[in-house]
Amino acid sequence: MELHETKIDLAEGKREKLITLLNQSLADSIDLVYQAKQAHWNVKGPNFIALHELFDRVATELDVHVDDIAERITSLGGVAMGTVRISAEKSSLAEYPHEISDGTAHVDALSTALADFGKKARTNIDTTDELGDKDTADLYTNVSRNVDKLLWFVEAHNQA
Ligand SMILES: [Fe+2]
Repeated sequence: MELHETKIDLAEGKREKLITLLNQSLADSIDLVYQAKQAHWNVKGPNFIALHELFDRVATELDVHVDDIAERITSLGGVAMGTVRISAEKSSLAEYPHEISDGTAHVDALSTALADFGKKARTNIDTTDELGDKDTADLYTNVSRNVDKLLWFVEAHNQA
């Protein structure tokens, strides 16, 4: 991996591992933003306006994480691989269902995607901590805590 010269006090070998992990999360997070948008645009039914607005909020909040992840990569001397084409090729998330429309189905589909992304972020807290980078571990802690909240906001619609 080609790294940029940097005076940061983290060893190159560790930064390479961190950057690989962060670029996977970048691909996943970009995918997830547009899964939330897909839900925002296509949801229908009696809870339309609440879900339409909630799904847009989910996309907006995830977009902040996309930027945080990409800029952590560049802070570590890496190249942020953040085009839509790279995301489509590299994302580890399952594709969002194309044919659904009712609110319950979108709540189920988006909560599945959020839970998968959140699980991976939580795993990365420990992985990056073990690599000696508490700042990236903190980034993943922030991501997983916020994704847990978004998962609750979405999932609550199908919990009663
Ligand atoms: Fe919109």
